[in-house]
Amino acid sequence: MSAPALRWGILGPGGIAHRFAREIPRYTRSTIAAVGSRDQARADQFAREFGLDRAYGSYEALVADPDLDAVYIATPHSCHRDHALLALAAGKPVLVEKSFATSRAEAQQVFDAAREKNLFATEAMWARQLPHYAKLRQLVAAGTLGELRHIVAIHNQALNPDPAFRIMNAALGGGALLDLGVYPLSALHMLAGVPDSLTATGLLTAIGVDRAETAVLRWGSGLIGTAISDCAAASPNTLTVVGTEATADVGHVFYTPQDITVTPRGGEPHVLQTKAEGGFQFEAAEAARRITGGELESPLMTWQDTLDVMGLMDEVRRQVGVTFPWER
Ligand SMILES: NC(=O)c1ccc[n+]([C@@H]2O[C@H](COP(=O)([O-])OP(=O)(O)OC[C@H]3O[C@@H](n4cnc5c(N)ncnc54)[C@H](OP(=O)(O)O)[C@@H]3O)[C@@H](O)[C@H]2O)c1
Repeated sequence: MSAPALRWGILGPGGIAHRFAREIPRYTRSTIAAVGSRDQARADQFAREFGLDRAYGSYEALVADPDLDAVYIATPHSCHRDHALLALAAGKPVLVEKSFATSRAEAQQVFDAAREKNLFATEAMWARQLPHYAKLRQLVAAGTLGELRHIVAIHNQALNPDPAFRIMNAALGGGALLDLGVYPLSALHMLAGVPDSLTATGLLTAIGVDRAETAVLRWGSGLIGTAISDCAAASPNTLTVVGTEATADVGHVFYTPQDITVTPRGGEPHVLQTKAEGGFQFEAAEAARRITGGELESPLMTWQDTLDVMGLMDEVRRQVGVTFPWER
């Protein structure tokens, strides 16, 4: 609520755009000023649902709206780069849903354009802005956990196997990795940086998207990280950070607002109360602060952070043999 107010435009009125449109006006001073869809009727329907003044039947018309301060890109992964470039070309800062792009090279193109236009761009990896992620960073930096030895992050969901569904459609950048696996990898990267090595295994579905990946990351410090994702099996999605002095556990679902349980070596577990309502307001408020301050990126999710994580996912895909149709 203390962040400056922005007038947001939503590009792509799908599932996650609905959540953004619910939470931003509820928990921040910002507003959803307009929506753009490929279809005027869908834009109108979304505008009616959320009481918006302006609904556009094309993305081009949305980004041309002079009364918008920023655009939230909420389309499938395969579209992120082009839609972010469209908005930047029209002079609009962008908050781009995770995964930021389908490859590191695509992500770089967006950041190059943002630099050239002197505009803010960031990945909507909302977890990094949540209070318990800030607390985890603090615990690690303060040495409360001691030297990190293991980090295990799991993100499994039993998703609709219909080949028409976005996540089962390779042409839309579907698969477990870009949708689910990005959370474990981004959490590991936030806590420990770029690893010295990464070994991945995984499985492809008959319809050509990756069903599951496990990546084992190693840092020279003696830390081993494991990032697990599967889109055909549900599980508690947890994050465990094991240090020489204590273990920090974040329960189901680790990348949504949660408390942290810290268990000191040989001691009793205690709970750090970091849970919050909502969730998306933190990334929107951070973007509002940076955009208003004339900054191009957020220190909580820098361009390099996104490029690093995209690079890790490129490497997982290389080892598992996941290619998108346009790469074949
Ligand atoms: N942060 C989170 O917790 C979270 C959760 C879920 C998803 N996401 C991310 O949000 C993004 C969108 O996911 P979603 O689940 O909201 O997807 P979705 O429900 O399928 O919505 C995507 C929207 O993109 C538009 N679109 C543009 N080109 C399209 C194309 N070629 N095929 C299909 N749709 C197209 C569609 O709107 P129009 O056709 O009406 O323009 C559609 O409504 C993904 O990057 C995903 O990873 C984030």
